[in-house]
Amino acid sequence: MSRTVIRNGLVITAADELLADVLIDGEKVVALAAPESGLAESFATGADTVLDATGRYVLPGGVDCHTHMELPFGGTFAADTFETGTRAAAWGGTTTIVDFAVQTPGMSLREGLDAWQAKADGQCAIDYGFHMIMGEVTPHTLKEMDQLVGEGISSFKLFMAYPGVFYSDDGQILRAMQKAADNGGLIMMHAENGIAIDVLIEQALQRGETDPRYHGQVRHAFLEAEATHRAIQLARVAGAPVYIVHLSAAEALAEVARARDNGVNAFAETCPQYLYLSTEDLARPGFEGSKYVCSTPLRPEQHQAELWKGLRTNDLSVVSTDHCPFCFKGQKELGLGDFSKIPNGLPGVEHRMDLLHQGVVDGQISRKRWIELACATPARMFGLYPRKGTIAPGSDADVVIYDPKARQTLSAETHHMNVDYSCYEGKTVTGKVDVVLSRGKVVISENTYLGHKGHGSFLKRDTCQYLV
Ligand code: URP
Ligand code: ZN
Ligand code: ZN
Ligand code: ZN
Repeated sequence: MSRTVIRNGLVITAADELLADVLIDGEKVVALAAPESGLAESFATGADTVLDATGRYVLPGGVDCHTHMELPFGGTFAADTFETGTRAAAWGGTTTIVDFAVQTPGMSLREGLDAWQAKADGQCAIDYGFHMIMGEVTPHTLKEMDQLVGEGISSFKLFMAYPGVFYSDDGQILRAMQKAADNGGLIMMHAENGIAIDVLIEQALQRGETDPRYHGQVRHAFLEAEATHRAIQLARVAGAPVYIVHLSAAEALAEVARARDNGVNAFAETCPQYLYLSTEDLARPGFEGSKYVCSTPLRPEQHQAELWKGLRTNDLSVVSTDHCPFCFKGQKELGLGDFSKIPNGLPGVEHRMDLLHQGVVDGQISRKRWIELACATPARMFGLYPRKGTIAPGSDADVVIYDPKARQTLSAETHHMNVDYSCYEGKTVTGKVDVVLSRGKVVISENTYLGHKGHGSFLKRDTCQYLV
């Protein structure tokens, strides 16, 4: 097993910032040492790797707890495979993903999980875990939840949206939450009132409102807030924690904040697209707006300041990507003439660390908060801490050397995601990943990918470590 030393960087975790050498033995961090202690020299001898991080940050690898590689949606599949998507994640300094295995109605959770394990097995560049999407809450699938928690699939996504596809009604949601209260599982909620939204979709199409921008109008912020409120109340009745995914509306955030002020175990994530993009992007002419169709939808720009505030107050505890890329050509185009047929989802797994660092540069959040939102809290929320999400003795050596001064322009020409456009085409950000280690192995260095598929291994997760 080889040893690696990362010298002279500013090590940033959710808790601390300190100038230190990071000592790595094989796949694990073994110590942080003061640069003047001489420990690094005695630890690393001839054949070992010494990386100089002078003037740069040394960060825990990013933990993106919301991705959808190869997700079937609207008659097509998300364009990144586990191979291409995890490689793109590594390029952007993310070393762990938690993706969603899918149970579709008629299937058992086990069958869904097996299918997703088969897709990911031997393909990933970085470590990965799974949540389970429950397409159907039945006595059988409720029982299966217990088994899955024991196997490290300790979180379950339910949908208040998409009637006829993934939708669960309030009774089904309550039953799943009661089960989670009992077995330690965490219910993740897609909180939009899908029944009302479907009425609004039908009415919009009848009026001839077929462009992508109407996607944002029918998926009204009040219907996100209403579903968020309902999910939280159902969770309180069940005595279970709840985690609201991809929160985009200020009104929904207010519901989470109110519950948290009352000491409720209600948590929420947002995503970079909601911090930087808006309904103006959805309204781009010439069907360009389809590139920005996701659910929950992008909101008017004034929501962004509220979301940044939520990130500071911890009413938003996590930033994930909800990476779910569909190419413009042939995939987004399925919705030409009918916005409701545009596959929902945006590419983003590669840019989360940088876009959130831009929030540090812009004075929105501190450096430690950046790491808390992108690494430490997602690891805690989904039972991976301190193996992932921090740099400490015993942690996996998932480490990023980050240049906080480098400038880069985001573009489909240069990104590594398997999708033919960038939501951030031409946007310049300050900060760039230089070196990435995944369990002690250098996978990115000097603008070169040095990893390989199959390096990433499956993570058996504990239950949520973030409850109040
Ligand atoms: O538009 C989105 N978010 N697509 C992915 C599926 C989901 O609901 O998270
Ligand atoms: Zn969702
Ligand atoms: Zn999603
Ligand atoms: Zn390997």
